Amino acid sequence: MGPLLSVLDVRKHYEVRRTLFSVAKETIRAVDGVSFHLGAGETLGVVGESGSGKSTLARCVLLLERPDSGEVVFDGVNLLTAGSEEVKRLRKRMQIIFQDPYSSLNPRMKVREIIAEPVRFHGMAKGKTDVEARVGEILRSVGLDEDFLKKYPHEMSGGQRQRVAIGRALATEPALVIADEPVSSLDVSIQAQIVNLFLDIRERTDISMVFVSHDLNIVRFLSDRILVLYKGKVVETGGRDQVFLNPLHPYTRMLIRASQGDFTLREEATNGADPSGCPYYDKCEDRKRECAGQVPELSGNEDHRVACFHA
Ligand SMILES: Nc1ncnc2c1ncn2[C@@H]1O[C@H](COP(=O)(O)OP(=O)(O)OP(=O)(O)O)[C@@H](O)[C@H]1O
Ligand code: SF4
Ligand SMILES: [Mg+2]
Repeated sequence: MGPLLSVLDVRKHYEVRRTLFSVAKETIRAVDGVSFHLGAGETLGVVGESGSGKSTLARCVLLLERPDSGEVVFDGVNLLTAGSEEVKRLRKRMQIIFQDPYSSLNPRMKVREIIAEPVRFHGMAKGKTDVEARVGEILRSVGLDEDFLKKYPHEMSGGQRQRVAIGRALATEPALVIADEPVSSLDVSIQAQIVNLFLDIRERTDISMVFVSHDLNIVRFLSDRILVLYKGKVVETGGRDQVFLNPLHPYTRMLIRASQGDFTLREEATNGADPSGCPYYDKCEDRKRECAGQVPELSGNEDHRVACFHA
């Protein structure tokens, strides 16, 4: 059996004006030739600093945004060339969870309706009693009791709202869930609870997950494999332990040190830089002169790949 999801050389560039009044345009290489595979039941952690392209990649995989080129193969079907009926059928099996549950939940709907909507729309249950039963089951599976059925989003805490958003995403029994910074808007004390909920879902189901976060500690806790993005490119990827215990790319090493509290990352990546050399050249502590002349390709084996001439 092939992987559930294969992302092949996906590219998404944006043309933006440099300033409000300038004519000159700049190309933002938000996602610049990213490939990865995800097997059933696997969790891929996607890390990288702000602006590295994590959210754009997530949106491209779910076709919330159309990649400029590349392939997104889900369940053996290339979503970029599939017909609309087929895309609709596959959509039901892929769901996204966003950072801010407040803006992703309809403020005028009660929790009962928020969860019942996808259950009905995708025909997961029929008839009032069955739908009610399914909604109750989903609510319990995300750690909320029946009292929440009649609550509106504004009547709940951030953590409870994120539980509802997760329940809504799980309502269609998806094979793939993409979570884009799902805990970063929450209080630190609540983050652990939601991370544990994700862990529980992983263990209970054979869902595949793409877990996007700038918090390496959370990603390490939840993921089987890791993808490190820098300026829209994969600079390192591999098994969780391979990447965390033996980081090969200078950027990965820097991210890990930052996550251990050695220093704080302040800068945002600028994806517009000239791609004639290694994208990390300007900041690299290990750079050699030849790194400026050509772009390092990802190389290595299935368990661990890195894009660096001197790894
Ligand atoms: N619609 C758009 N138009 C122009 N530029 C965009 C658009 N969406 C994203 N970008 C740019 O693409 C780059 C990648 O953005 P993206 O949101 O994917 O990064 P990210 O890794 O998710 O960052 P963060 O950690 O801050 O969420 C950034 O430079 C961003 O400004
Ligand atoms: S290729 Fe050179 S500049 Fe790029 S990360 Fe490796 S050592 Fe640093
Ligand atoms: Mg983002």
